[in-house]
Amino acid sequence: MANLARAPGGGRERGRHYTARPVKRIVILVSGRGSNMQAIATRCRSEGWPAEVVAVLADRPEAAGLAWARGQGIAAEAVSFKAFAERERFDAALAEAIDLHRPDLVVLAGFMRILGASFVQRYEGRLLNIHPSLLPAFPGLHTHRRALAAGCKAVGATVHFVTPQLDHGPIVMQSVVPVRAGDDEATLAARVLATEHVIYPLAVRWFVEDELQLEGGLVRHRRGASQLLA
Ligand code: GAR
Repeated sequence: MANLARAPGGGRERGRHYTARPVKRIVILVSGRGSNMQAIATRCRSEGWPAEVVAVLADRPEAAGLAWARGQGIAAEAVSFKAFAERERFDAALAEAIDLHRPDLVVLAGFMRILGASFVQRYEGRLLNIHPSLLPAFPGLHTHRRALAAGCKAVGATVHFVTPQLDHGPIVMQSVVPVRAGDDEATLAARVLATEHVIYPLAVRWFVEDELQLEGGLVRHRRGASQLLA
């Protein structure tokens, strides 16, 4: 039986009628500190989304995000990349660990491994990523360094559905951050990260509330909410 959320909502309380909403199960993948994961898990609870972060998985046992998740009572474990000679085997072990939690949504939050096409296809339409650039500009690493070198006047972050192509896929939401005189990689990264903590929880909330419509490679919010934080 599906879990039911008692958001304004479930059951009957003090004479008021509530409608039960199914709880979406979220699994989050991290590689490091997991500040985006923390932002999502915290807002999921504090805002009473019809969802639960049921597990946090990492590709490295030392990922700091695992300890934070355990401290919150969230199941957390590593599927160590180093334990596998081939990427396909790592992908398969990771998928097995994810599937134990029966996710409706898999969220890549600073997960720094390239995932193979069969992994991506397994979670098609329910796999989100955040990348610290205005995609399709600057996929891959060192985005802020490359944006500064290119003389960009604005940078930002992108939440997107994942496709087999690296840092590519239907865009759910973007944030734009102006570049200021004197900015360096660190100052830009910090200002972009602050916007990531706004747009990623919002995008995940929209997903779990069935507000996103994916059609012809484009994502739109069903009720027309702005998909840009500028
Ligand atoms: C974030 O800036 C995220 O956009 C980036 O890694 C950082 C993780 O921080 N992701 C990528 O570069 C993916 N291509 P966090 O662990 O504190 O969330």
